[in-house]
Amino acid sequence: MPVATPDPTAERMLDHLAGAGGGVLALRDADVGTSRERSRRARFVRLAALVWVPVGLGWLRTLTMGPASAFLPLPQVDPFLVTIIVFFGLLLALAVGQQLLSGRSPHVTYRPEQIDVRLADVVGIDGVKDDVVRSLNLFLAHRTFSREMGGTPRRGLLFEGAPGTGKTHLARAMAKEAGVPFLFVSAPSFQSMWYGATAKKIRSYFKALRKAARKEGGAIGFMEEIDAIATSRGGVASAMAPGTMSPSRVAGCHGMSSLPAAYAAVTNGVDAGTVRTAFTSEGTGGVVNELLVQMQSFDALTGWQRLGGWLVDRANLLLPPERQLRRPALLPSNVLLIAATNRADSLDPALLRPGRFDRRLTFELPAKSGRRALVDHFLAGKSHAAELDDGERRDALAALTQGYSPVRIEHLLDEALVAALRRGSREMTWSDVEQARLVEEVGTGAPVEYTAHERCLIATHEAGHATLAWLTAPQRRLEVLTIIRRRGALGLLAHGDREEVFTRSRIELQALVQIAMGGQCAEELFFGDVSTGPGGDLLYATNCAAEMVGAHGMDGSLVSYLAVQNSAACDTNLVGRVLADDRGRDRVEALLQAQKATARALLDANRHLVEALRDALLEREELIGAEITDVLERAAARPRVVDLRDPAGGRLGAPVD
Ligand SMILES: Nc1ncnc2c1ncn2[C@@H]1O[C@H](COP(=O)(O)OP(=O)(O)OP(=O)(O)O)[C@@H](O)[C@H]1O
Ligand SMILES: [Mg+2]
Repeated sequence: MPVATPDPTAERMLDHLAGAGGGVLALRDADVGTSRERSRRARFVRLAALVWVPVGLGWLRTLTMGPASAFLPLPQVDPFLVTIIVFFGLLLALAVGQQLLSGRSPHVTYRPEQIDVRLADVVGIDGVKDDVVRSLNLFLAHRTFSREMGGTPRRGLLFEGAPGTGKTHLARAMAKEAGVPFLFVSAPSFQSMWYGATAKKIRSYFKALRKAARKEGGAIGFMEEIDAIATSRGGVASAMAPGTMSPSRVAGCHGMSSLPAAYAAVTNGVDAGTVRTAFTSEGTGGVVNELLVQMQSFDALTGWQRLGGWLVDRANLLLPPERQLRRPALLPSNVLLIAATNRADSLDPALLRPGRFDRRLTFELPAKSGRRALVDHFLAGKSHAAELDDGERRDALAALTQGYSPVRIEHLLDEALVAALRRGSREMTWSDVEQARLVEEVGTGAPVEYTAHERCLIATHEAGHATLAWLTAPQRRLEVLTIIRRRGALGLLAHGDREEVFTRSRIELQALVQIAMGGQCAEELFFGDVSTGPGGDLLYATNCAAEMVGAHGMDGSLVSYLAVQNSAACDTNLVGRVLADDRGRDRVEALLQAQKATARALLDANRHLVEALRDALLEREELIGAEITDVLERAAARPRVVDLRDPAGGRLGAPVD
């Protein structure tokens, strides 16, 4: 849409929109600032008229009738009548008020001055931030973008991602930078026990959003946890869900998949992944429909415009065609609606189409560089010892917090401060951070009185895991080996990747299964029996093996069980689908047995390592980091004596101290 004479302000704005990292447009230079100034002046004129008209009338009366009659005389009313009118008036107000309140929007409006977060305070998610700055600039220069280029500004952004990845934080920073009101609402608060009240509340919210936008030149709405009211209506998801194959979609290979949560971070007790269980309320369909309608009604007429239009229509009925009056023009409201959710897949697909939530931004867990930036950001505001200013220490902390969300990193440092306080210090040290991480990842230790036999059994079991991890997975870091009860586990080995990884090879996955089998094998080798202890290990190993067989084509079959759709098997997860199939189950069983045999043979050949670790555990109860590898290295370096008279020791490779 070419223009004859380029407007320098518009050109400046468009230049800004074109630049990626150019920051947010200044409010006074943007369309939002211009609209706000215009409505401020109009408000001022209205107020002046309101004040000056009665003053002028009073003055006129004074001039014409004298000062005594400048004000109209109050009518004489019977007080009894007034009491009755007030009483019934109050009753009526109560009844009407209840009706009105049940449909009131539950939002809270924040003015930019009330928000204390700026875009500079959002760190470690640069990709999303760039995109958000672009959307914000489009919002600020919406009129120039439409007039000069014919584009339609973005109206909706969907923030999806795991809890604590900064969705709300970024939205608040956006409202601060944009300098417009921020209407925060939590989607569950729309729900009401009264029939129809939920839809009414949604209508009121959008009305408030439009009103604020008209007054201030623009407004940002933020709907927290939108999935509470916008889950798929029956029958829509399967037909239109993004990701399902349809003839019109471009065919292509998927990129490499990232690690499934099942074995992304083995040490990580808490799964930061998305929540999968869905809750659908009875009236979901109606509520979603209301949301769909409202998201297309940002340009609705105001009450005055509707009244004006009605009057014009009445007048036009009396006027000939050539004298017809024009209805008031529709005033677009500059609204940006942001919705956040942990499970975008459960949303109704109609909400995700362009024109509603045009842009879907995924908040991933931060990568190592992001975590380093977050560590710097959070440490800047928390008292810490000089050793934590060391770049290498901070890098190490960024490496150790793999799989952490920003809020979890912040919480870790807060816990370190608590640990420092408990020590009697006012600043955290590296060891406080390590202590906090131990508690964060494996929980606090609970003293339990084991019997001597159980204590030895648990120590042997955990030593079996650790020995196998050391032997088969050099790429893994052994973090904690303990026989103190933590988070419901009688003992545990915590191990993690040395480097941040996004894929795993078959050998690495096999090693993970072997490590999981290590406990049971050690029990068999040293006690000739197995206990109930390895139940959790078998669960983990089965999950891992089922993924290898049914999703990654790593065990003879190339069939992906994830491809199954619209069948009874869809009601279960991947493991369920693989195990429900006889051939899948046989493959998983064979894989587990084979890995167990390898694990057992390895442990059998390295009994001395298991024994060394077991003894160290019985003595110290908990070994951390290098303490584990020290024991193993010392035991490995010790000369081994084979007692040929001992039937067990006489086997080739079986060591006896
Ligand atoms: N990128 C970030 N930079 C700095 N601080 C962050 C960042 N992300 C999160 N935080 C911190 O974590 C806190 C929680 O983040 P936030 O509430 O935005 O998470 P969320 O993604 O909205 O989570 P939920 O899905 O549970 O609502 C913030 O108040 C902030 O202190
Ligand atoms: Mg949030």
